[in-house]
Amino acid sequence: MSANPNRVHATFEGEAIEAAAGASVAAALLASDRIAWRTTRDGAQRGLFCGIGVCFDCLVEIDGESGQRACMIPLQEGMRVCDNGTRDTTADTGADAEEAAQ
Ligand code: FES
Repeated sequence: MSANPNRVHATFEGEAIEAAAGASVAAALLASDRIAWRTTRDGAQRGLFCGIGVCFDCLVEIDGESGQRACMIPLQEGMRVCDNGTRDTTADTGADAEEAAQ
């Protein structure tokens, strides 16, 4: 079985997501049945709102860089997307855990 070149695969919080090539990170999150992917300090859930890069409701962390607008960034193969402020630890080497234990 060969991979479909028209589909892009990534992860959100360590879980597989995918979308058509050229689709945004937000589109991939919506396609995975997520309507909210971050929480405000007050506990309100946020996801896609304006869809055009204006409201900043859709913020995520992408490959370790926080504050990225999911609606403005095309999903790329192998991207690691996280809730803004939450790290995807699936690829950690354990060094952070060792530091935290000290
Ligand atoms: S949904 Fe408004 S900036 Fe992304």
